[in-house]
Amino acid sequence: MAEALQPHSRAASWSRYWQGGHKDTCFLAGQAFSIREHWMSLFSSLPDNSRIVDLATGNGAVALLAAEAARDNGKSFDITGVDFARIQPDRVADNDPDLVSRVNFIADTPVENLPLADASQDVVVSQFGFEYSRTADTINEISRVLVPGGRVRMLIHATDGAVSKASQGRLKRARDICARGQLVDLARALQPASTADYAGARKDDKNLARFRSRLSTARKKYAAAPDDDVVHYVISYLTELVDRRLRVDPNDYRQAVANLQAEIKAYSLRLNAMTNAARSKKDMDTLVSQLQDSALVEGSFALLEDERGAIGWFLKAHRA
Ligand SMILES: C[S@@+](CC[C@H](N)C(=O)[O-])C[C@H]1O[C@@H](n2cnc3c(N)ncnc32)[C@H](O)[C@@H]1O
Repeated sequence: MAEALQPHSRAASWSRYWQGGHKDTCFLAGQAFSIREHWMSLFSSLPDNSRIVDLATGNGAVALLAAEAARDNGKSFDITGVDFARIQPDRVADNDPDLVSRVNFIADTPVENLPLADASQDVVVSQFGFEYSRTADTINEISRVLVPGGRVRMLIHATDGAVSKASQGRLKRARDICARGQLVDLARALQPASTADYAGARKDDKNLARFRSRLSTARKKYAAAPDDDVVHYVISYLTELVDRRLRVDPNDYRQAVANLQAEIKAYSLRLNAMTNAARSKKDMDTLVSQLQDSALVEGSFALLEDERGAIGWFLKAHRA
């Protein structure tokens, strides 16, 4: 089976997301929170010819800011973005092709095993990426690829942060809508072949009434969910599919429901990974001592917040 069709693997759940043309990970109420200024001030302060690697780059949200800072300031940076998913920064409609061409994106590659030479980088950055990996291995890699004095700057998910809370809400809604007897289940039972005989047709009528009633409950229940929440997508997808069900081939109908389920499963996997990646203050203290053990010294972190609450921990350190 092709990699992109394996929603159960961690990397594939992200490949699905990035190939959908997303620019960045937008966990918060449909709006990407921005720490653009933060990153821009770092990148603008770097000297010409700096070498920067963005770990778990996704579709390049941070790597492209480095490219923008270089262009704005007439500098040349050597920028690499690494991710274990099949990323597609060139397919994001909003991405500036000139900036994309200034980054060396490396897909299908875990950050625990960076394809970079020893002491070849001046700065390692990551935005909600490093903490998804096997961090002990990734720390060794960061230490290996940085030059002495090289910097580490990472934004890390915080437990109890606004992003974390929003994701937990999303995960719960995704699970609810897929639960037994809920919308997806009811839609599956409406597979068109069941209209073949009189008894089947009556059963179909009953199932249809049940589906429509659950649909109307779901519309009310999730009215306040963020615009880009999966529940809205599921509701509109199933409304259309069920409306068309007597005009589609039963096999196509079955496949359409299965595809939807795979989509929701990949979405839930990503949110689950995010929940597991989030760090408490105590975890951050431990992380700083792990960095120290790998010659990444003077580690410090602070909670970055906006009007919605905590966005994440901003961590700084440098290579001894
Ligand atoms: C929340 S997204 C962040 C992406 C990007 N940094 C951004 O801010 O939009 C997490 C990313 O980590 C990647 N990822 C997770 N574990 C990884 C690993 N072990 N090696 C490389 N990439 C990984 C995923 O594929 C995904 O693109």
